[in-house]
Amino acid sequence: MILRSKKLKLDRDILTPDGGIRFHFSIKSYKLYYEVFKNDAMVIGKSKLGFIICGNETTFDNFIPVREHKKSNKEKITMMWGEDKTIDNTYNEVAFYLAEPKDPKRTMTLRVRVFNDAVAFCYEIPPQPHFSQLSIKEELTEFNIDPESTAWKIPAYQPDRYEYNYEKILLEDLKGSAHTPFTARTLDGTYLSIHEAALYNYGSMTLKLDKNMKLKADITPLSDGTIAHVRLPFHTPWRLIMLADSAIDLTKNRTMFALNNPPEQDFRWVETLKFIGIWWAMYVGEWTWAPGERHGATTEHAKEYIDAAVRLGISGLLIEGWNDGWEGDWLKNGMYNKFTVSTPDFDLEEVSRYAKRRGIEIVGHHETVGFVDNYERQLKEAYDCYARNNIHYLKTGYSGSMMLIHGRREYHHSQLGVIHYQKTVELAAKKHICLDIHEPIKGTGIERTWPNLLSREGARGQEYEGGAIAPSHACFLPYTRLLSGGMDYTSGIFDLTNPAKPIFTTLARQLAYFVTIYSGMQMAADRPFIYEDKFKKEFEFIKIVPTNFEKTVPLAGEIGEYYVVARKDRNSGDWFIGGITNEESRKVHISLDFLDKAKYEAKLFTDTPKSHYKNSQFEISEKEVMLTKDDNLDIYMAPGGGFAIWLKSK
Ligand code: NOJ
Ligand code: CA
Repeated sequence: MILRSKKLKLDRDILTPDGGIRFHFSIKSYKLYYEVFKNDAMVIGKSKLGFIICGNETTFDNFIPVREHKKSNKEKITMMWGEDKTIDNTYNEVAFYLAEPKDPKRTMTLRVRVFNDAVAFCYEIPPQPHFSQLSIKEELTEFNIDPESTAWKIPAYQPDRYEYNYEKILLEDLKGSAHTPFTARTLDGTYLSIHEAALYNYGSMTLKLDKNMKLKADITPLSDGTIAHVRLPFHTPWRLIMLADSAIDLTKNRTMFALNNPPEQDFRWVETLKFIGIWWAMYVGEWTWAPGERHGATTEHAKEYIDAAVRLGISGLLIEGWNDGWEGDWLKNGMYNKFTVSTPDFDLEEVSRYAKRRGIEIVGHHETVGFVDNYERQLKEAYDCYARNNIHYLKTGYSGSMMLIHGRREYHHSQLGVIHYQKTVELAAKKHICLDIHEPIKGTGIERTWPNLLSREGARGQEYEGGAIAPSHACFLPYTRLLSGGMDYTSGIFDLTNPAKPIFTTLARQLAYFVTIYSGMQMAADRPFIYEDKFKKEFEFIKIVPTNFEKTVPLAGEIGEYYVVARKDRNSGDWFIGGITNEESRKVHISLDFLDKAKYEAKLFTDTPKSHYKNSQFEISEKEVMLTKDDNLDIYMAPGGGFAIWLKSK
């Protein structure tokens, strides 16, 4: 519809298909604003939109409406793998075509999509008559929620990237910038999480309070002080606000994936994976990454672990420390890493031939330490080397507080970092390699388009155990970090009382993680002899739990307190339930009415009244019972504990 050219003001509502959420867009005195209402209560107050462009630092936020285009979509999309096979992509969309009232009369489109459980918008900058590229100084987007809201955050721009404990704050006390997904609860009890979807070729969004206490986008800058250099046409990632009436309902939100495009290539070769690794032995000091007497990644150890994987019924083996570059202080020497040269005691060809013979997938490893220039110089050869050796899985790592890109120190989460990670995903896709990126760029749902990106770390994982992880940590993740997709938490450490790295959880909780923390590449992270020597029965659960689910039913929980979730296997129709709690013990009541068959043979791994994450970690109860969908369970979780249930369909 063409608007009258003299109409300088605009007031428009866009409703969700079910009418529960309203996005209000307005233009007043040429400035762009939006508001968001849920059940008529304001969730996001009047918030600015627009940019500051480099050059003479002109604002790019003075517009008149030119035209608008409406669209509605009703669709179920299919995910190749994940927590849910089917995701709802039903929304109402309006694209507002805008133009500056005065010369140079630049144009911009604001595209808004309103879903039943989220709103999203993105800026599109079409080709312009006078220029074809743009450097952006600042994004003006605000998310003006009540400063008295409660929020859960990890800090941005810190040396350990996303690897921090979550903190519960009053929004008005937010100091510095926080990463997204940024989850908050307003005074009237609405839960929301602010995030972004489809982040490509742009700095990642963090959030901070401005001097008027308004929450505002703070896009990760490049070292030259800009946030992005782009060619036109260009569009930003989607700014996404997920909304729910309860914390547990928030965890059902899959809009981020719906906002990403379907794959353009054939990815039928991609399969999720469970793997063990030459890994935890280094964390407990038995082996080393560096060559020497206790070198972990030797041909001999690799073959032993391959044999163990076969015995344990696990499909993959990660091998860290096989390549040249780990000598001395590897965190400092990352620029010398060679990704195609192995240490003298490791024969990549022999190991991969042996793995193939025994039916085990090798998970290759590249620790870049953030030296991206060094990595990119070798990227093609390094990926070719794996492809040549029949290696289809790769864990990458970017330890270090900053990246070295184009000779400059840049944030992992800057535009140049985002471009680098994407380069690895696309090259890996070409070579039929699946990725598990540690120290990654946060998830924004691009694995819908690039399903070979099977997992990421991107939060504090079990490598921080030994004192730096409180039991509450994993109870924050489902409501925050995991809203951005799966995570490689390196679950399943059973050697809980090793003085070199004590783990502050119960044994049952280590099993629960395989259900509560989804990952397309799921690691059983302890050394295989630990599983084989003492914990054969418990390991059965890890062996059987799937890495690809038909559907997920979050059952109960509160942020940082507890989380209970049920997931249905995509192949067998079996169900799995996992639950975890913080340092408080609690009983949860579960009604099994979500089950779809009449009868199930259930195996339950639960804490006992004696279990405790500090001094009684191995206390576990294991039971087998028949259950039906009419049954209810009352399950006790010990302090720092949890439970895992396998419901085998009859
Ligand atoms: C950091 C990763 O998160 C960890 O899993 C890995 O072992 C180290 N980098 C060394 O590569
Ligand atoms: Ca890490």
